[in-house]
Amino acid sequence: MAEKRIVYRCQQCGYLSPKWLGRCPECQTWDGMVEERSAKGSSRAPATPSVKSRPVPFHEISSQDRARIVTGIHEWDRTLGSGLMPDSMVLLAGDPGIGKSTLLLQALARMARDRQVLYVSGEESPHQLKNRAERLGVRSERLLAYSECSLESVIEVIETLAPEILAVDSIQTLYSEALDVAPGSISQVRECAVRLMRVAKEKGISVILVGHVTKEGAIAGPKALEHLVDTVLYLEGDRTHAFRLLRSVKNRYGSTNEIGVFEMKEEGLEEVPNPSRLLLAERPVGVSGSVVVCSVEGTRPLLVELQALVSATGWVQPRRTTMGVDVNRLSLLVAVLEKKVGLSFAQQDVFMNVAGGIRIIEPAADLAVVSALISSYLDRPVPPDLVVWGEVGLAGEVRGVGHSVPRLAEAHALGFRKHLVPAGNVERLSRELGANCLGVRSLQEVMDALFNSPGR
Ligand SMILES: Nc1ncnc2c1ncn2[C@@H]1O[C@H](COP(=O)(O)OP(=O)(O)OP(=O)(O)O)[C@@H](O)[C@H]1O
Ligand SMILES: [Mg+2]
Repeated sequence: MAEKRIVYRCQQCGYLSPKWLGRCPECQTWDGMVEERSAKGSSRAPATPSVKSRPVPFHEISSQDRARIVTGIHEWDRTLGSGLMPDSMVLLAGDPGIGKSTLLLQALARMARDRQVLYVSGEESPHQLKNRAERLGVRSERLLAYSECSLESVIEVIETLAPEILAVDSIQTLYSEALDVAPGSISQVRECAVRLMRVAKEKGISVILVGHVTKEGAIAGPKALEHLVDTVLYLEGDRTHAFRLLRSVKNRYGSTNEIGVFEMKEEGLEEVPNPSRLLLAERPVGVSGSVVVCSVEGTRPLLVELQALVSATGWVQPRRTTMGVDVNRLSLLVAVLEKKVGLSFAQQDVFMNVAGGIRIIEPAADLAVVSALISSYLDRPVPPDLVVWGEVGLAGEVRGVGHSVPRLAEAHALGFRKHLVPAGNVERLSRELGANCLGVRSLQEVMDALFNSPGR
């Protein structure tokens, strides 16, 4: 009989301990240690095949320029960096019910037009898969559905079928019989991913893993999986809105933070070729607190509406609530506004929302956040054809940001003629585009330009 070893592993961070602990000393999570019994030597094998190799000069390595696997779903292809890299491993993560299986099935169906694709589902029966496929209009002889949870069975099938692409929906439902732990636990997730990677590398298979996100927002089995795979895609969005954003947060073969925009429809996820137009379609004009920002996600400029509401608080501690913007960033900008412009938010609740359920993470949105706050505070609207971007520092200075030319071009294409931008970006914009931009250096200048200038 194989010798079994008992260890306790934190389900949040993977910390290992020979005895049970109430609180993980690594990530401080309470009650997260789970007992594991593993047969000795089952999980420590390397992810790549142990082919005997030797160090070689770079110029002797043959450059295998294999074409990327393109689906024709442009938003998917672009997010991956012009298609899926052969032999790579992709993790597609997202909240429950956000549309991961839908998007995956649509992409796999396109890939299966000229190659064998195996879709392993541990969550749904073949009938349920068929129902979805019919709803999405997916019909392909080379796309094989396989309902299975056992890793060993999946590997057996891969070895006989040798598909070119393997998709596993989801990695948390897969379990290896070598480990005496429940499916979905951090060691099962890691063991399954590592063994699949080993087989995939040996056989030259591209793998797409679907991963659930925990309620704290991390991929379950968190960092272990993110480090292992080549690309991490997050499908995100507000379930009450039809928009879904596919965001690449890690990509060894392309730009990170690249996004693809989709709209959830009955026939599946439909690409949105011009998201800015759609996102601004219902924008109220001439209303205080509403400001349009041009944010660049990856390489793509996106115009979105930021809405701020500043109102007298009924609480001892005023509230700071955000949707789509980091709440700490908002608190920081409120503090800078108080200190540098002299507006007092001590008795004001502040709410901030990005219209359309979009999430903005780049600091270039700072200037728009500040403008929306001032606009709502003073209850005075900004011009309807104004677009704003720039980073704000703790000293109240406005800093230049990258991608200024594509930002301006996108704003122009949608009819925005006034641009409030960092002074550091103005020269280049005027030189390259002949555009008329208003450059600002400090928050006081923002205040003057938007609300105190006689020309308004
Ligand atoms: N008949 C339908 N018409 C319109 N939209 C639908 C229909 N059926 C499902 N949907 C949409 O698809 C979503 C579920 O998609 P999907 O099953 O791909 O999500 P998932 O991320 O794989 O979920 P899970 O985490 O449960 O696996 C639903 O939230 C809903 O928005
Ligand atoms: Mg699913």
